[in-house]
Amino acid sequence: MSPALRQKFVVGNWKMYTNAAEARQLAKAVVDGMGAEERVSVTLCPPFPYLALVGEILKGSGVALGAQNVYPEKEGAFTGEVSPTMLLDLGCKYVILGHSERRHKLGESDAFINQKVRVALADGLDVILCVGETLEQRKNNQTEALLDQQLTLGLAGVSADTLTRLSLAYEPVWAIGNLEHHATPQQAQDAHAVIRRRFGQIFGEKSAQELAIEYGGSVKPDNAAALFCRDGVDGALIGGASLHADQFLAIVRAAISTSLTQENSAKTAA
Ligand code: 13P
Repeated sequence: MSPALRQKFVVGNWKMYTNAAEARQLAKAVVDGMGAEERVSVTLCPPFPYLALVGEILKGSGVALGAQNVYPEKEGAFTGEVSPTMLLDLGCKYVILGHSERRHKLGESDAFINQKVRVALADGLDVILCVGETLEQRKNNQTEALLDQQLTLGLAGVSADTLTRLSLAYEPVWAIGNLEHHATPQQAQDAHAVIRRRFGQIFGEKSAQELAIEYGGSVKPDNAAALFCRDGVDGALIGGASLHADQFLAIVRAAISTSLTQENSAKTAA
């Protein structure tokens, strides 16, 4: 498959924002603004308490529902946790795992994240696994080693027949919610190439070429197109801008128009 023809993903990670009324309004505005577009895969990941109400609004639309976390057990005495089956019950297709906020603020280890990745995939969820370095690691030239470690440990034991339900998100910690430090399109492209190469070493070249890698970290309507047109940047995982329907939809439109351009140039080249 030509890299240019991978479907683009636009995922809104609402983090711990919105109340019920805002969640309802935001989801409705996204569904209404989306129309029948199917070229780009669009997903909303509201906080756990609003999954059901957002799920109702998304039903029958082209927009998928995702969760921001999951616990790697089917059921049991795990107070406060949510299982993959519960998420599937609520209509979730996706789950975001390994987000840097969970790694750094909540102390999740690569081993724990790996357990979640394996269980979520085995139970039928599509996983978006986030990886990315801190500013200090980048300054110390440790980006590649860190990505290698997060991929090797995070993907250990993942079964090859679940890979079509796995995508990765490169989220450099220093670029998340940060107005001063933005990853340039070139930095994103370079890191995605490192990730794809490592993925290929683990799972083979074919799987690496089919893998979608989203970029996350201060994606806004004004920088989205420049990122999407880069080789190997297959979409975006969006925090702040996903809380504003107009901004989120503008990013979706940028993904659609980049996809169209890439499809047309692939046809011309064929
Ligand atoms: P921002 O878009 O707010 O930088 O957040 C990115 C992110 O963490 C998405 O998961």
